[in-house]
Amino acid sequence: MKVGIVGLGFVGLSLSSVLASKGYDVVGIDVDKEKCKKIINGISPFFEPELEKILKNGLKKKLKISNNFSLINNCDFIFVTVGTPQNTNGSIDLSIIKKAISTIGKNLQKNKKKPIIFVKSTIVPGTMKKVVLPILENKSNKKAGKDFGLISNPEFLQESTAIRDTKFPHVVILGGYQTKFMKKAKKFFMKLHPDVPIIITNHQTAEIIKYANNSFLATKISFINQLSNICQKIPGANVDDIAKTIGLDPRIGKLFLNAGPGYGGSCLPKDMKALINFANISGINPTLLKAVEEVNTKQLEQIISMIKQRLGNLSSKRITILGTAFKPDTDDIRDSIAIELIKKLLKRKATITIHDPKAMKNTEKIFRNRINYAKTVGDALSKSQCAIIMTQWKQYEKLSNNKFKYMTKKIVIDCRRMLIEKQLDVDYFAIGIGK
Ligand code: UGA
Repeated sequence: MKVGIVGLGFVGLSLSSVLASKGYDVVGIDVDKEKCKKIINGISPFFEPELEKILKNGLKKKLKISNNFSLINNCDFIFVTVGTPQNTNGSIDLSIIKKAISTIGKNLQKNKKKPIIFVKSTIVPGTMKKVVLPILENKSNKKAGKDFGLISNPEFLQESTAIRDTKFPHVVILGGYQTKFMKKAKKFFMKLHPDVPIIITNHQTAEIIKYANNSFLATKISFINQLSNICQKIPGANVDDIAKTIGLDPRIGKLFLNAGPGYGGSCLPKDMKALINFANISGINPTLLKAVEEVNTKQLEQIISMIKQRLGNLSSKRITILGTAFKPDTDDIRDSIAIELIKKLLKRKATITIHDPKAMKNTEKIFRNRINYAKTVGDALSKSQCAIIMTQWKQYEKLSNNKFKYMTKKIVIDCRRMLIEKQLDVDYFAIGIGK
């Protein structure tokens, strides 16, 4: 069994490494030569816990990395894991996946096996039938269902737990026609993940399941964020106690009820926009989804007004941002709320210093010399007038009076309630806590 994986981002590189470490013969392909070079040397192009270890293990076995697409010619299974970013109007940008599929199609001509192509990339309903399938058939001069299989196989892994999620997914979705290829795919996944439910459905349902999943997660976050705003108006109220308690109701569930500055990252905001756009063009006014987005946008305004209430005019005020990654255990800053916050504070002419254990380099690529970069939390807080905890990095839990003592005004805004239990000699405000 030979497996080809096209696109070596979080999903593709995790899958390549996990399958190879399990002994599969894997070729991971990416158009980016520099990225391939790094990976061949066992270096991950982005920070993801556990990834490098398992990648190195895979490389010792049968993992090959290349930018040469013809290597998929002798593959039995080909996984498409390229990105599907958004256009400026929020709709999905299919240009990358179209290109990848077209190259796969051309190479299919020479493939003597009857491979199955699994599409893991997030795509709006109808894309498999209207875009992917016609391109593959045209470019290969072969017929889907006869010469090759085509299956929608959306991915649910989270950055920061990508390896665990790849090894132990909560579900496997297989969308497509009920052919011999589907049977083969089911057998493969039953062996790979023996106790995991496998849902077999059609392409369009598989496609929308992914959006349903991400938009429901976003809804939970906006729900708890709106409640956290209400809590702030009730002296002594605590949003975490609410989340903990309602989370015990099995109909609700405890996850994704952690109030904060709003959801960010490369998926939730983009997928919400794509689903809203898709609903609109389908003639449905997605009022709930739009409200979820609006709550998310307003959450940032809420933080800015908390800062302004304490500091007044922000011009020349020294503000420290602790954490720029969109969540802990990643160096990813794509659509990070902290980055948006910095942009807005810079517009108001504040002087910004940041600290992040992993995302400094990526942050520097955006702001260059417009902000200051501190190597330690102590340096970041020294002479600052206001510190804002944006990302829930474990090390920020340890912050104590000792670290805050060199601030010139000791205002701390904790968007993750990390220091709530501490007796601090600071002016402390937390999202979701009524003062
Ligand atoms: C998300 C989904 O969780 C994955 O299931 C999905 O596969 C992935 O998108 C994708 O479509 O590729 P990810 O983007 O890695 O995964 O990030 P999440 O862990 O979902 O976090 C997203 C944002 O929500 C972060 O900014 C995080 O801080 C925020 N969040 C999350 C909260 O504010 N509160 C919570 O309780 C949970």
